[in-house]
Amino acid sequence: MTEKDFLSKKADGLATGGKVTWKAPSNIALVKYWGKKANQIPANPSISFMLDACATTTTLSFERKKTAGEEFSFDFYFEGKPKESFKAKISTFFGRVESYLPFLKQYHFVIETSNSFPHSSGIASSASGMAALALCLLSIEKEADPAMSEDFFIRKASFLARLGSGSACRSIEGDVIQWGETPTIPESSDLYGIKYPYPVHPNFKNFHDTILLVHKGQKQVSSSVGHDLMHGHPFAEKRFQQAHGNLERLKAIFSDGNLDAFIEIVESEALTLHAMMMTSQPYFMLMQPNTLEIINKIWEYRKETGRHVCFTLDAGANVHVLYPESEKKPVYQFICESLLQHCENGHHICDRIGFGAKKL
Ligand code: PMV
Repeated sequence: MTEKDFLSKKADGLATGGKVTWKAPSNIALVKYWGKKANQIPANPSISFMLDACATTTTLSFERKKTAGEEFSFDFYFEGKPKESFKAKISTFFGRVESYLPFLKQYHFVIETSNSFPHSSGIASSASGMAALALCLLSIEKEADPAMSEDFFIRKASFLARLGSGSACRSIEGDVIQWGETPTIPESSDLYGIKYPYPVHPNFKNFHDTILLVHKGQKQVSSSVGHDLMHGHPFAEKRFQQAHGNLERLKAIFSDGNLDAFIEIVESEALTLHAMMMTSQPYFMLMQPNTLEIINKIWEYRKETGRHVCFTLDAGANVHVLYPESEKKPVYQFICESLLQHCENGHHICDRIGFGAKKL
């Protein structure tokens, strides 16, 4: 599919007003997206697990204006309170998706959004937030065009979400989601995420992600600044190739359920993401001493017990501890006894692989 396929065919029959609510989960990348081209096109392919507990719920109320305005018209509430500082981001998003949702200027919107995870936990809400908003907006078009297929709806929602925040396109549907063109997955696209089209072994069902909140609060570098630093980065090309290679390797790993090989790729991807930040100009260090304490303890525990627990990182200091359902008891006990002391006030979130966004 190309961008043209997502242009709206529906100009009439739009509702005069209404209200719609979607809940979209966050996701955790296994092979990381870091670096982008114009129009939110990823520089390399990525793959992620959908999360379940960490989610954004957005209610969009819309009312047709008498005459369409020149500007986008909306109010924005975050956790019940007006939040002016978010409005610029929403306006940019509206501008990017307007050609695909040409009715945007005909309405006044009230956007009310809240996160299931604590405010300023250092967990990025852009993926779940943009996914929930894209789904709400697309629901207006779908209402006027009931013939729109479910598959197309999902695909276009992912396409729109991507224009808000790249990783948001992986927060629509599925448990394992792949985004970004790569030769070993012919269905893959730079424009939207797809449900991983190959077999995934039962070892990965119900996979756990316990998120350790090492450092709450504002990140040192926003992801858009981070992506930009990959332009002219001395290791960029090799890194992009490596991501393609890791996706290819994951095919057999997912199919055979090889947890040792899975761990090797996932941890290497996390450290590579941070290595890219540490070697860009300007350079950044987003890990904290406690991030390293946790990583070292995970390595020690794995060596001693042979259990299949590993870590991954986002562009921040928090640690995602990943482990299979069959090992959840001892691993969670280890987390409580040895790792929570490195979190701010012991804060952590018990999450696991989920199945995607829901209309409420
Ligand atoms: O979606 P963005 O632009 O916030 O970028 C997210 C980048 C990482 O979270 C670091 C990696 C990923 O693939 O999710």
